[in-house]
Amino acid sequence: MESKTNKTEVEQISERIKNIDINKEVEEQDTKNEKKPESTKYLDFISQLKENRFKSIIFMTGAGISTSSGIPDFRSKGGLFQQLQEKYELSTPEEFFDINTFKKNPMIFYEFSKDFLSADYQPSQFHYFMSFLTHKGLVKFIFTQNIDGLELKAGIPKDKIIFAHGNFLEAHCPKCHLSIDINELNKKNEKGEILYCPNCKKKSPCKWKVVFYGEDLDQNFYLKRREITEGDLGIICGTSLLVQPFCLLPYMMNKNATRVLINRDMVGETRGKAGFKFNKEDSHDLFIQGYSDDIALQIIKDCGWEKEFDEFIKNLKNQS
Ligand code: OAD
Repeated sequence: MESKTNKTEVEQISERIKNIDINKEVEEQDTKNEKKPESTKYLDFISQLKENRFKSIIFMTGAGISTSSGIPDFRSKGGLFQQLQEKYELSTPEEFFDINTFKKNPMIFYEFSKDFLSADYQPSQFHYFMSFLTHKGLVKFIFTQNIDGLELKAGIPKDKIIFAHGNFLEAHCPKCHLSIDINELNKKNEKGEILYCPNCKKKSPCKWKVVFYGEDLDQNFYLKRREITEGDLGIICGTSLLVQPFCLLPYMMNKNATRVLINRDMVGETRGKAGFKFNKEDSHDLFIQGYSDDIALQIIKDCGWEKEFDEFIKNLKNQS
């Protein structure tokens, strides 16, 4: 995983976005004055969704969809990066999630994991919204950067989710990649001890399969990313779109696909052929600014699905 300033193999796409007709695009795409989505575009989006005309929805999500579950995002003021940087006196915000930090001092991530796993966070309305559409058979994939696993708690089948930055459900040795029994790691952590790899000669601490800076993403991400062109609607939500290669996903969608950005702040690339074109009337791009839960519920309401959605959540909760 790399920050946007570092170059990766997907750099070409990034360059493509940035280099084509920049001046013309900047002029056309200046988003400074944008406040609300074009209402006709929004209504068009709703009518297509309501009539099940989108059959291959792809979600691309980040930490913002879990803030209402009690998990802070990374880059907002007072967010995880700030909290962890202050607590551990780190030189950069990313340092906590750097593989070299883990190798030098695994205990700080063990402590973090213990707190995280014992918190028993619950899904947000946005997670249930994704689950609802998935159970309607409309969702192809959910690409998430989140490691909280709340998609699963919201009843989304595992094969629909691509955990781009890993999760706490599996463990391994980051050095030799030997798979480790997750229960063994959790038990050891409960006792305040570090689990070392039985395979590596020099002591190598085992780790939950959360992707750190300096580690590669799971192969599944690269495999499923190829199918992104099959999506007819992309919903991007709760992410600053700053971390590669994940942040390039929206620009890999088919040019005829509708892309809806739901976020508290404007993010993403608005330049170049593949960039968002929210202000262009004939584009299929729509920015809905606000909180993910509020907007998910508004969409449900506007589609006339309120009763069905309530029933869906009730049933899910009864099953668990
Ligand atoms: P960020 O913290 O970078 O961005 C969160 C985005 O969500 C921001 O644009 C916020 O404005 C927005 N946001 C916050 N709360 C919201 C809400 N309730 N509704 C709508 N929008 C909201 O988080 P990510 O983009 O997910 O990797 O960060 C990407 C990666 O950076 C993470 O996966 C993490 C970190 O490196 C790991 O460390 C494993």
